Amino acid sequence: PLTAQANDQDHLAVGGCDVVELVQQFGSPLYILDEQTLRTACRQYRQAFAQYYPGEALVLYASKAWSCLAICAIVASEELGLDVVSGGELYTALQAGVAAEQIYFHGNNKSITELKFAIEAGCRLVVDNWLELESLARLLAAGDRRVPILLRLTPGIECHTHEYIRTGHLDSKFGFDPDQVERVFAFISEHPALDCLGIHAHIGSQIFELQPHTDLTSVMVQWFSKAAEYGLSLRELDLGGGLGICYTEADDPPSIEAWVKTLCQGVVQACETQQIPLPRLLCEPGRSLVGTACVTAYTVGSQKQVPEIRHYVAVDGGMSDNPRPITYQSVYRAIAASRMSAPLSETVAIAGKHCESGDIVIYQAQLPSLEAGDVIVIPGTGAYNYSMASNYNRVPRPAAVLVSEGEAQLILRRETYQDLIRQDCLPEALKLV
Ligand code: LLP
Repeated sequence: PLTAQANDQDHLAVGGCDVVELVQQFGSPLYILDEQTLRTACRQYRQAFAQYYPGEALVLYASKAWSCLAICAIVASEELGLDVVSGGELYTALQAGVAAEQIYFHGNNKSITELKFAIEAGCRLVVDNWLELESLARLLAAGDRRVPILLRLTPGIECHTHEYIRTGHLDSKFGFDPDQVERVFAFISEHPALDCLGIHAHIGSQIFELQPHTDLTSVMVQWFSKAAEYGLSLRELDLGGGLGICYTEADDPPSIEAWVKTLCQGVVQACETQQIPLPRLLCEPGRSLVGTACVTAYTVGSQKQVPEIRHYVAVDGGMSDNPRPITYQSVYRAIAASRMSAPLSETVAIAGKHCESGDIVIYQAQLPSLEAGDVIVIPGTGAYNYSMASNYNRVPRPAAVLVSEGEAQLILRRETYQDLIRQDCLPEALKLV
């Protein structure tokens, strides 16, 4: 529910701000994050759990979707916890003031430095594999400290999404295989420093079906009964993220409410069957919280007509600020923000500015006739855009602004050329001047 419509200048307004004016003020390209949309999605998750789950629940924001101080602070103020997946994301969350016990640290190859950082900070660790389990047991052996952990399991569930973002099938690099789990339970029962709170699984991302998550609930709840045989009383069940969002009119994902309802009903039913108490239920949405809350604004530059084949309209960004089209063949749509009421007379390819033929933001966009200086926006760029952005071709990363009720605030400064060479070292002998 992006609060976007044309204003009396015939410009697109987001969060009450004129997009063309934002570009004049903050530069181009520009990530424009609508605070109300983000907060609404947070509330929809929490309200759905309140409605459909009789037990305790916690929603974690998967900050890999977009980690920065402002977003961490907004989701924490909505009483969500955070899923982090690296020392850098953990650091960002802590710097934003998120309480450590609300942070869950994932990752299939955490370094010893990251493990020590997590233990020191007091966050929860989602343990992925034997090396990590053994490293933790060793790190904790000296003291009397206990560390709260969850175990990541590979549930063996297939879902239909791009193969790079599928994670629940058996051939996945993440988590303990089902045939390992009992040995893991036995190991934990012999290491009291490992305070095993529960188990976790994440089956994939940008998923439109509900059935895989129903299947997941029953597979996971069965492990609760198994753990009890090893003297472990698990109390948290984290079912990951994965709810898809709408990038084009062709996409028809379930609502947040429908997705949460599926998880809750599945867990309630499976717990009844297994005759175990309801666990504290967690999930970790990323894309469905922040994805639709952001648009990227670009300024139109050169155009090229290849007769009978294609009309290219180039913009001032591309694969460095949104690597998803070139990585996953993701499809987006475009809006002519500077001429909202002009007829959509052209089918054009929106080309990025990078030195790579595949740097095409959209292959077929319906737009009015545009000129250099026009502003277009691509909706749905809140998830996995800034967080996967690069400096390819030494293009500085764009700025991001937070818009709400007609006010815009900078949340990420635009990178400068000085920023680009900040980490460069030029050995004395190589200096030309
Ligand atoms: N939990 C875990 C353990 C995950 O690995 C992920 C996503 C999430 C939660 C959040 O999933 P979401 O609700 O956002 O679907 N870069 C790809 C997506 C990679 C997803 C990685 N893991 C893309 O741009 O589509």
